[in-house]
Amino acid sequence: MFRFRKAAVGIALLGLAGFTGAQAASNFPGIGRDATVKEVKAWDIDVRPDFKGLPAGSGSVARGQEIWEGKCATCHGIFGESGEFFNPIIGGVTPKDMETGHVANLVTPGYPGRTTFMKVPTISTVWDFINRAMPWTEPKSLSHDDVYAVLAFMLNLNGMVPDDFVLNEKTIRDVQAKLPNRNGMTTDHALWPGNEFNGAKKPDTHNVACMNDCAPEPKLTSFLPEFARNAHGNLAEQNRLVGEQFGADTTHPERPLGERPQAVQLTATEQANADAKKILTTLQKNGCTVCHGMNTKIVGPAYSDVAKKYAGKVEYLIGKIKSGGSGIWGAIPMPPQNLSDADVKAIATWLASGGPK
Ligand code: HEC
Ligand code: HEC
Repeated sequence: MFRFRKAAVGIALLGLAGFTGAQAASNFPGIGRDATVKEVKAWDIDVRPDFKGLPAGSGSVARGQEIWEGKCATCHGIFGESGEFFNPIIGGVTPKDMETGHVANLVTPGYPGRTTFMKVPTISTVWDFINRAMPWTEPKSLSHDDVYAVLAFMLNLNGMVPDDFVLNEKTIRDVQAKLPNRNGMTTDHALWPGNEFNGAKKPDTHNVACMNDCAPEPKLTSFLPEFARNAHGNLAEQNRLVGEQFGADTTHPERPLGERPQAVQLTATEQANADAKKILTTLQKNGCTVCHGMNTKIVGPAYSDVAKKYAGKVEYLIGKIKSGGSGIWGAIPMPPQNLSDADVKAIATWLASGGPK
């Protein structure tokens, strides 16, 4: 970030600071504009483990207590112990952990739960998170001094700093040096390669899809218990129609996987969800959703309105989608659409049989 800042200052000296127009050189002339120096500064707030990006400031434990009790305790508990809104933040660490940099309770069988300070290996992350995300209902409302102060209080609750401690951009380094789980992080698994591998190490997944002589189908033996299946209502009805998943219909008992060949035993709800998702993908792929909403007019009419108007008229719809048209829904014309016969037929059939549900 430091180097970046220098570049930003360079631009400022050239007298370009604060420009708002599209004059800046661009690979896409006429589209958008470069971010202003101020915009980049507002966005570039990350604080890294080596404290690059950490703004100067300071705050005492006492001031932090006021902030904590006023703005944080409702959700996280007076002592940061609450598990009501999120996992407990404070607790579970000992003076011994501060010496070793490993939290013993992480490997204590039966220890109830894991707090933030049991897990986090870099104090910069906590500073950064509070600064960007807390309080949950008012992110970015704390001044830098207040972030230092409230973090000082949290460290005090953890028994890591004394009551008269003042946290600032210098003393935070001492805190890192005794952060309980500072030695607990590993990137050896290479799932998140660090610099130590020079990008050479690959994640430890070496699976190759089996094409022949494969092991027999696995036998699943764990299922959601019957009593818990519908505990949160019908999952199929709570899924958004994006991605590959549509929730299981939990209103009936689960069938063992072996007895449930795909697409044959889908329930009515599952089938409807799968169909809706398929058509949505087709509409998105062909750029239709840019101009048409399911139930809202955008540039063109809502599909629900189109469906109402042309029930049963598959051929008409195929023709109109391919050739485009104007004057039926307003003055704006629809350009001819270039899409495959299969896609146009699927869309027209869907519209002619009622469209969005
Ligand atoms: C309205 C409820 C609410 C308030 C008020 C609130 N938090 Fe949080 N806090 C949350 C929730 C929920 C999460 C988990 C957010 C997530 O993971 O996206 C969280 C996460 C955190 C975490 C990260 C914990 C972890 O292990 O990832 C920290 C640190 C934190 N809050 C500190 C604070 C501080 C400091 C304040 C007061 C300035 C505060 N919170 C106020 C609800 C709240
Ligand atoms: C650039 C915006 C735009 C795009 C992209 C677009 N449409 Fe349209 N569409 C319109 C407008 C505007 C109308 C209304 C035309 C009219 O009034 O006759 C319309 C009308 C329609 C109609 C009703 C035709 C009629 O005769 O009443 C259908 C069906 C339709 N569009 C389907 C599609 C499909 C399917 C796609 C994607 C392959 C698509 N549109 C892409 C803007 C668009």
